[in-house]
Amino acid sequence: MAGKAWRQLVAVASLLSVLWLLPWASAIHRSDFPVSFLFGTATSSYQIEGAYLEGNKSLSNWDVFTHAPVSGRIKDGSAGDIADDHYHRYDEDVELMNSLGVNAYRFSISWARVLPEGRFGRVNPLGIEFYNKLIDSLLLKGIEPFVTLNHYDIPQELEDRYGAWLSAEIQRDFGHFADVCFAAFGDRVKYWTTFNEPNVAVLTGYMLGTYPPARCSPPFGSCAGGDSDAEPYVTTHNVVLSHATAVEIYKRKYQSKQKGLIGIVMYTTWYEPLTDTPEDRLAAERALAFSVPWFVDPIVYGDYPPEMRQVLGSRLPTFSPEERRKLGYKLDFIGINHYTTLYARDCMFSSGCPLGQGTQHALAAVTGERNGVPIGPPTGRPMFYVVPDGIEKMVTYIMRRYNNLPMFVTENGYPDGGEAGHDHAKDLLHDQGRIQYLDGYLTKVAKAIRDGADVRGYFVWSLMDNFEWLYGYTLRYGLYYVDYQTLERKPKSSALWYKRFLQSFQHEAQ
Ligand code: NOJ
Repeated sequence: MAGKAWRQLVAVASLLSVLWLLPWASAIHRSDFPVSFLFGTATSSYQIEGAYLEGNKSLSNWDVFTHAPVSGRIKDGSAGDIADDHYHRYDEDVELMNSLGVNAYRFSISWARVLPEGRFGRVNPLGIEFYNKLIDSLLLKGIEPFVTLNHYDIPQELEDRYGAWLSAEIQRDFGHFADVCFAAFGDRVKYWTTFNEPNVAVLTGYMLGTYPPARCSPPFGSCAGGDSDAEPYVTTHNVVLSHATAVEIYKRKYQSKQKGLIGIVMYTTWYEPLTDTPEDRLAAERALAFSVPWFVDPIVYGDYPPEMRQVLGSRLPTFSPEERRKLGYKLDFIGINHYTTLYARDCMFSSGCPLGQGTQHALAAVTGERNGVPIGPPTGRPMFYVVPDGIEKMVTYIMRRYNNLPMFVTENGYPDGGEAGHDHAKDLLHDQGRIQYLDGYLTKVAKAIRDGADVRGYFVWSLMDNFEWLYGYTLRYGLYYVDYQTLERKPKSSALWYKRFLQSFQHEAQ
């Protein structure tokens, strides 16, 4: 009797443990999205490739930054020297994607691998060969390559020669890099983006000084050089015009033959007013305008956002007639990287705002809590809360501001993990938090689409755990767990969940 009861108990327990994996246990299905929708996973070169000295690659700004003898830059003191060793294991990684059933993969090209000395040297055939092999291997499995030209990493050479984004010279270099990539890969790549999160690269690199080239001034930080009040605007100008240079080359030389699309990817935080007052509501609007429209308004409308001009006046550069002509090539879609929502409060009329936040120039301060209550369940990363409504609001905001230009959710994902060296593989593999997060956010993307938003794809960040910038290997976003001792990849529960989700279309169609 006791044996039978025990067996029944075990059967019920194991049924319950798999229940959440079944497609019908979730409210969201593949068939809630258009048939042509791209579902993929995302990564970037520095975060996964490793092989930092192989195949004639030169040093990138991130190689130099992580190796500099400055303590405390990266939480666990690590670097991307080996990362996931994707450079050698790309075939295995394509197979991981294939087993998930995705139809797209978003990755970036290491500029220093393709053009080790930028436009001052030759194209590196080994760099071209690596990405050719990757692209061919994806296409063989029916996976669409969705390629980012620049995901933070640039050849250090450009930094040393002329100060990279601080100089207008970078526009020529970026144009040359883009041209080389369109010529080499454009016969097979139909989705291009010029930049990944330039709004993050500029704020961290030139206002907060936490990413390379680590430039800033007080109260944002005490860096060896920099001017946090001026340089973010100079570098943004050069990024926006570099985007325009690459898009002009694509549209004039390649698009009609290659029939691809080209866009830009922005980091998007949704902001809720901390209190229901006109001041905080305006602060939330300013915080937004100083983030996404800062780059996208010039590309779509030819000038910086009025919300920024009002506050910054002549600190914002102006576009010359020739620059405006170039901006006329615009873009074909907007990529949205979205993770979290924060509260914004006014600093224009109220005092007591903290100094040195990234939203300071917008005269707004951000916080994750209202009266001590977090805006959503917290995660393994500070200031990162689970707020699924935020993605719907963000998509709707972009849809309205840019007249429903096509959009892709180019990143969405959930961090877990903990302190360096305290890696509980078992817990990390059973990642219920990630499943709930993805399920909740996807549900809201589907709702935005039902309400008219032209969203055409969704990419989970990330395919596998990888080098998470300032957090090194301590934060994990992957659907696949990576054992950094052996580099073995193991599917987490969320990988199985994504796979089932992607199959839920076929089930219902039968
Ligand atoms: C944004 C970045 O594009 C990516 O590089 C980063 O790892 C994820 N978000 C998570 O922070």
